[in-house]
Amino acid sequence: MDTRMAEPPGAKLQNMAELVRRFADPSVAVAPGGRVRTIAAGHYTVAGLSRHVRLGEFVAHRSATGIHLGEVVRVEPDIIYVCPIEPGEPIGIGDVVIRKGAFRVAPDQSWCGRTISALGEPIDGKGPLQNGPVKRSISNTAPPSMTRKRVETGFRTGVRAIDIFSPLCLGQRLGIFAGSGVGKSTLLSMMARAEAFDRVVIALVGERGREVREFIEDTLGDNMAKSIAIVATSDESPMLRKMAPLVGITIAEHFRDQGENVLFIADSVTRFAHAIREVAVASGEPPIARGYPASVFTELPRLLERSGPGAEGQGTITAIISILVDGDNHNDPIADSARGILDGHIVLERSLAEEGRYPPINPLSSISRLARKAWTGDQEKLVSRLKALIHRFEETRDLRLIGGYRTGSDPDLDMAIKQVPIIYDVLKQSPGDGPVTDAYADLATALRAGAAPAPGPGRQRG
Ligand SMILES: Nc1ncnc2c1ncn2[C@@H]1O[C@H](COP(=O)(O)OP(=O)(O)OP(=O)(O)O)[C@@H](O)[C@H]1O
Ligand SMILES: [Mg+2]
Repeated sequence: MDTRMAEPPGAKLQNMAELVRRFADPSVAVAPGGRVRTIAAGHYTVAGLSRHVRLGEFVAHRSATGIHLGEVVRVEPDIIYVCPIEPGEPIGIGDVVIRKGAFRVAPDQSWCGRTISALGEPIDGKGPLQNGPVKRSISNTAPPSMTRKRVETGFRTGVRAIDIFSPLCLGQRLGIFAGSGVGKSTLLSMMARAEAFDRVVIALVGERGREVREFIEDTLGDNMAKSIAIVATSDESPMLRKMAPLVGITIAEHFRDQGENVLFIADSVTRFAHAIREVAVASGEPPIARGYPASVFTELPRLLERSGPGAEGQGTITAIISILVDGDNHNDPIADSARGILDGHIVLERSLAEEGRYPPINPLSSISRLARKAWTGDQEKLVSRLKALIHRFEETRDLRLIGGYRTGSDPDLDMAIKQVPIIYDVLKQSPGDGPVTDAYADLATALRAGAAPAPGPGRQRG
């Protein structure tokens, strides 16, 4: 029998009246606290807070070692699931947990040159951080698209292969796709030195501790004065790894709102996705693609949408992110989803790295969707001609290797055999070379001089 039938007529109305009375009575306080009910490896549950918190908000838990934060990852009628930010914090059944709301940071000009944790605390031993006047939630949403300026100002990255084949615009979102150890971080560090930016915000997620100092001290060099690094290394909790890029983009938004052109770098977004997956698994969210839960595919666009141009009078956030393609499979779900959101992708190939052609950018499969706005008409024509030459050179590589081509039979191929090794040579660049100011001029000089091409199959036959 339906138990609701037993309810006396008018009971619902009485309940409602009681609710209204309690709501209006200031002596009936709503307690924003609850108590720990269950504890598991990656999360704990709290009773008594379900009506007071929203998904993604933070709660604070007091233990013998101090106050610890956790994120609300699931809300049920009686309990909420919380992922603690620091692993290993001592939690006991019945401990008091209170609502803290959204996680906020208050970025300030004085943060430049500093390295901070995902909690917004200094980790560089240079003393405390001074907070700015405005606190910003790290889960802000992107500005409405119709109020944003258009993306149309090209800039030079200082990396020849990108400035020639896939030039970028301020406010663009670019992904660097590659397998592990192919050269993503090195390329990012080279691009971090681009002169077009007033501010550089770098979120290093899931990196090895050793690489972090290297990246910050060696590669940023003089640029460190205008940079802020947010670091969550591979040994830190998934919550911190998930928060680092969010804190980074929030800081970038602060400077964008002040009219600055900001470069936001996230290395790597795949490790950000892995962190979201770990948190989601702990909260019981079901996986939908290769073990990734649905929340990964909503968090990723939300993060990337926050970059881009601001409204009139504001600056821009140019985002350059690295994406690790698992097992060099460029169609894995994260790479696929990111490619759809980005305004361009640079593909690094292991085979080029193995040949020592650094940065190992494949100019044929790398695309900047805003390149047209950065090229002049002549440059666009030149690049399309260069790509045709490279394509011709590469598609006949095997044929030439087995001696199946005789010089003089195809003038276009002869031209490719002569010029492509020179182009490849010009594109070689290591971090020690520093940024270049005019990549086209370098290319033109080398082609005119017919600089010594690297020995390759084409040379041997030619
Ligand atoms: N432009 C370059 N010039 C010379 N060497 C390079 C260049 N880029 C990468 N390398 C070499 O490749 C190695 C790996 O590069 P890097 O750490 O940037 O790769 P990654 O893709 O970020 O790796 P991971 O997936 O482990 O994060 C470097 O240690 C360096 O030896
Ligand atoms: Mg790396």
